[in-house]
Amino acid sequence: MDLKDFFSAAEARSDRWCEMNSVGRSWEAAVAQGQPGDKYHQQAAQLLGDITPIESYWAYPGPRLMATVRETMDEANAGVFARLVQKIANALLTGSYRHDTSAWDPLQESEARPLDVLPPDVQTGETHKPYFEVLVVTPNDPATWERARNDLKRLRRPEDIFHYEIVQVGSFEDGVIGTIFNHNVQAVVIYDGFQFRSHHELPMMRDFLARNLNVDPAAIETGTLATTLARLVKNYRPELDIYLLTDQAVEKLAGSEQVAPIRRVFYNVEEIMEIHLSVLDGVNERYDTPFFSNLKRYAQRPIGTFHALPVARGKSIFRSNWIRDMGQFYGMNLFLAESSATTGGLDSLLEPTGNIKKAHEQAARAFGAKRAYFGINGTSTSNKIVVQAVCKPGDIVVVDRNCHKSHHYGLVLSGAQPYYVEAYPLTEYSMYGGVPLRTIKKALLDCKGEGKLDRVKVIDLTNCTFDGHMYNPKRVMEECLAIKPDLIFLWDEAWFGFARFNPLHRRRTAMGAAAALTSRYRDPAYRDEYKAFAAKTGKLDAKNSKLLDMHLLPDPDKVRIRVYQTNSIHKSMSALRQGSIILVWDEDFHQVEGPFEEAFFTHTSTSPNQQIIASIELARRQMELEGYELTMKATELALKIRREVNNHPLISKYFHIATPAEMIPAEFRASGIKDYGPPQSNWKEAIEAWNQDEFALDPTRLTLICGSAGFDGTQFKNLLADRFDIQINKTSRNSILIQTNINNTRSDGALLIKVLAELAREIEQRLAQGGREEQEAFAAQVKSLMTDVPDLPNFSRFHDVFREKARSASNEGNMRPAFFMAYDDENCEFIKLASKEIDERLKKGPELVSANFVIPYPPGFPIMVPGQVITADTITFMRKLDVKEIHGYHAAHGLKLLKPAVLAKRKGKNHDV
Ligand SMILES: Cc1ncc(COP(=O)(O)O)c(C=O)c1O
Repeated sequence: MDLKDFFSAAEARSDRWCEMNSVGRSWEAAVAQGQPGDKYHQQAAQLLGDITPIESYWAYPGPRLMATVRETMDEANAGVFARLVQKIANALLTGSYRHDTSAWDPLQESEARPLDVLPPDVQTGETHKPYFEVLVVTPNDPATWERARNDLKRLRRPEDIFHYEIVQVGSFEDGVIGTIFNHNVQAVVIYDGFQFRSHHELPMMRDFLARNLNVDPAAIETGTLATTLARLVKNYRPELDIYLLTDQAVEKLAGSEQVAPIRRVFYNVEEIMEIHLSVLDGVNERYDTPFFSNLKRYAQRPIGTFHALPVARGKSIFRSNWIRDMGQFYGMNLFLAESSATTGGLDSLLEPTGNIKKAHEQAARAFGAKRAYFGINGTSTSNKIVVQAVCKPGDIVVVDRNCHKSHHYGLVLSGAQPYYVEAYPLTEYSMYGGVPLRTIKKALLDCKGEGKLDRVKVIDLTNCTFDGHMYNPKRVMEECLAIKPDLIFLWDEAWFGFARFNPLHRRRTAMGAAAALTSRYRDPAYRDEYKAFAAKTGKLDAKNSKLLDMHLLPDPDKVRIRVYQTNSIHKSMSALRQGSIILVWDEDFHQVEGPFEEAFFTHTSTSPNQQIIASIELARRQMELEGYELTMKATELALKIRREVNNHPLISKYFHIATPAEMIPAEFRASGIKDYGPPQSNWKEAIEAWNQDEFALDPTRLTLICGSAGFDGTQFKNLLADRFDIQINKTSRNSILIQTNINNTRSDGALLIKVLAELAREIEQRLAQGGREEQEAFAAQVKSLMTDVPDLPNFSRFHDVFREKARSASNEGNMRPAFFMAYDDENCEFIKLASKEIDERLKKGPELVSANFVIPYPPGFPIMVPGQVITADTITFMRKLDVKEIHGYHAAHGLKLLKPAVLAKRKGKNHDV
């Protein structure tokens, strides 16, 4: 199996059915024309043989249809075979099996209607109950399975709000595979007493279980196979509900750690009705959206409003002479669901006590956090809330200089002092990666050496970066906590919210790491590991440079897990723009709760938008119920696009998608993985790389190099938008960033590839027809974009008057006074970028000190911050910059600087904030 099959067994499977469908039709046609059909018969038999074991993990087509297909194959009945296979392939492609009973019956013709893909207000006809599957792992003889399925089916009632089907498997291995492959599964019912081994031949899967899920059949204690399976399923898909039926002493078992991942334990089989109801209830808990449901109820009530917000209930619009089109365009519900009230069943985001409080708790559960808070003003604001909550003036924050500007502004507002650390540069693409762990450790040890480690409160990093560099948060936090055990981590995972729902990505999330570290430090085995480490290393001496290259371990008696994660729900899930979330796993949250509330009040509007709140909650529902399927598909689509672009003989002459090897220097890629998928790696190797490497590349973020086709990033972005209606977001000098998300389809992938092929063809023609002149101009343009790239300037330093001790190894500075000094025009001067004066001052002084943030887009990081001394590197970079959008810089005025005389007056006041 290759990586593709792993990520989307469902699509690989429907592809095979489609292939069998086409073979079936050829077979039928050959027979109809009196030609020999043996070749097709054999091909079909081969495909059916390949598909059969996979089908045992899905409810549809199920044993009855599969047996009929096999019979028609054995009887060489090409016509019926072709009809049946077509029916199944269609049902799988359209999803009609979820609600069309005829799709399950070999004798009935079924209408292949696409699943509800049209917008709901356009779609006519009845609405269907949501469908899911329940995986039953049972020791019973397969001959009894059909009866058991029918017994459960008899319990269905018309008032059930969901519809489910059963898939039965007979072993531990099959239970795991069913969980991995079948995204329709929402609940797993485990009957104790089954075998470990599957009767299917599964060498790759066995290897996966052993190496990636750490399953060693010999090490599983007798009697714990069922609970081990439950633990494994929960680790892999935490959203699933697990039920255990056992004849062990359930009263004793129920209180044990072993059954913690299990939702309910039943004594043996007589509880079938309870199981049925529990399954529905478990799914309903995830489906439940208390705020949204209430909002819908509210919208239906006749309410008179005598408060602000004239659009509430729509009356100012629907009766208007001039803005009726606003009502027409947005529809009635938007306005009926608007209110500035927090009564009448609507809760207050600022002081939640009702359905928003419940929604927060549900989100914490879904995202694996201890607490969750909705943000309605984007992660820009969520970051500022966390920064203000966890640090105060004078605290030091070790922060990636390349982080989003909300962090820099948060630091200005809070008065905390940034200690800027540099991400590794990818100069050839004019972008940065992540901050190496060694750099972060050095920053901490420098502070320790200077006796100010107690002031270092927070490590603030972006995971993953815009361009897809994923940290190894577990490793980063572990080693930093070894140096200071109560550090707080703020992981800006604006782009990475979806990652929780994908078992591969989850290990690289902050909350995933917080959970893993919490259980690691509670484990007695860790104490032994730490003892051996401490005995060997002794006290951590800040001057010992060997510590930078050692794996440091924190003291389990001192370590505190204090992690904050922010996600833009709107960036990778189905929330409206600005929907964001703050996730908290902080063992000392009681110390932060008050400041957190203050920070939340500081930054949150007192008129939060109801629709944004509801959409965050709905996005949570979606991810808990179909996040696994959607994120696996998005990953698979990315892998497909990567493979197609880089292997296409024509496209790859001009365009290329940067591989993990190109985006992550070898020193951070211990696994040596170069690319995803054959021939470079299979999925086992990819997972291993993600487990151990310092950085890994999120495959769903595709850096498409367009400089080699003669386009700079901005130009290419505009071309895609203007000519092909393709929108992308980020660009660099010679690349654009393409993202696959939960909304992207295979047709989107095809569109992109077609466009690249078309453009490549045009370039070929232009070069062929334009002669030498054209070819030379093209080569020069490519060279300029791909080779003559400016070096990325590092953070220089804060001016001495913004430092407490000018000559120290750590570089933190007091940015806030510099920022506010610039409010007074008299403190500032402007010098044109191209002027000689700049060069002279660089040579002879006085130093040029930036009065504000200067942030060019792209690349989007501040090349100057308030109070920073400007060096020649930065000026060279700015002069070479050919982007139009530079926040904080107006070419007509020049660079905004703090006057030397004003700085001189500040001498000795560097403690002032
Ligand atoms: C790393 C990072 N953090 C935070 C943000 C801000 O998020 P939002 O757009 O939700 O305010 C962005 C936006 O692009 C970002 O790239």
